Amino acid sequence: MKYFIVTYGCQMNVHESEKIAGILENLGYECGETREEADIIVFNTCAIREGAEDRVFGNVGNLKKLKKKNKNLIIAVCGCMTQKSQTAQKLLNTFPFVDIVIGTFNLTKLGYYIEAVKKGRQLEVLEEGDIDESLPYKRTSGENAWINIMQGCNNFCTYCIVPYVRGREKSRKAENILKEIKEVLKEGKYKKITLLGQNVNSYGKDIEGGLSFAELLSEICKLDGDFTVSFMTSHPKDLTDELIETIAREEKLEKSIHLPAQSGNNRILKMMNRNYTREKYLDIINKIRAAIPNCRITSDFIVGFPTETEEEFLDTYSLVEEVKYDSIFAFIYSPREGTVASQMDGQIDEAIKRDRVNRLLNLEKKLQKEEA
Ligand code: 5AD
Ligand code: SF4
Repeated sequence: MKYFIVTYGCQMNVHESEKIAGILENLGYECGETREEADIIVFNTCAIREGAEDRVFGNVGNLKKLKKKNKNLIIAVCGCMTQKSQTAQKLLNTFPFVDIVIGTFNLTKLGYYIEAVKKGRQLEVLEEGDIDESLPYKRTSGENAWINIMQGCNNFCTYCIVPYVRGREKSRKAENILKEIKEVLKEGKYKKITLLGQNVNSYGKDIEGGLSFAELLSEICKLDGDFTVSFMTSHPKDLTDELIETIAREEKLEKSIHLPAQSGNNRILKMMNRNYTREKYLDIINKIRAAIPNCRITSDFIVGFPTETEEEFLDTYSLVEEVKYDSIFAFIYSPREGTVASQMDGQIDEAIKRDRVNRLLNLEKKLQKEEA
């Protein structure tokens, strides 16, 4: 029996697909090369922008002919898209040949649901479950081992669907994280540990008496072995001096920070509920540059947030010029149903959004060239 996993979206999803692979291998499935030879196909989806969801609808639709050929083929859709009950329902209604729609909260029970489907049920499962520490990963990223340190997000940036589909922040216990990393290092083939969370800087705030993120990093760096450590993603509002000092001090820590600014304009930052100003953001950048020379700094930006004027967009443009990032991602604002920003007046015309994102990306290219 073979499985085939299709992954969309961020590193968190890439890592969760490693968990899905682990679960399937436990059930006796082997990794297949193509969809055609698979007995089970799993789509691990992303909901961050509309484009990501459209791609999933198109590609799941294409599976209909495979299902016709092979009646026993099991098709499961999981990930951020499926945690929204409306989207889960829409998937099941549009594609009756899909067997399992399983939200992010219940992924670890996938094996159980596969057994249920074999007995002839179509399933939609969205309720909240606990993180199951005992399930294996089948690591697939070469010398890099992804390590999840926390789930969820409490920030509710007004454009973002993540808090709705990933729930509230829940940190893993430091002892479990350290144990997992020790085991990974013992295998000998991993040289890079990448810690994952939506907002790693608030790691531990939900555990009384627990380690802060900087303390967790220091503990990880004390482990024996020839390896480097990096992490993503940082929120500027929670980035502490202690963290900057730790990155500067610890040899094993990569000198690299992904610090999404999202906008360079204070009115827009406020509307986004980001909880910092352009000035505070620049302060942090200056502190990082002073403490960690040659630190690689990267960022994400959203253009065309509701009511964003040309002048306000130019504040984002000038921030990118000023910081001289090592690289940036620039996204067109995509309204996500259920978020505050999607209800705001003043949604921006698509053509204007596209023009702004192109200008920002051209600036990025120009800066990259000057750097080279
Ligand atoms: N529209 C466009 N981009 C978004 N991001 C998050 N939500 C949206 C949205 N609704 C971007 C942010 C975030 C990155 C992962 O995706 O820039 O940092
Ligand atoms: Fe979304 Fe903001 Fe949380 Fe990042 S910090 S996941 S952008 S709500």
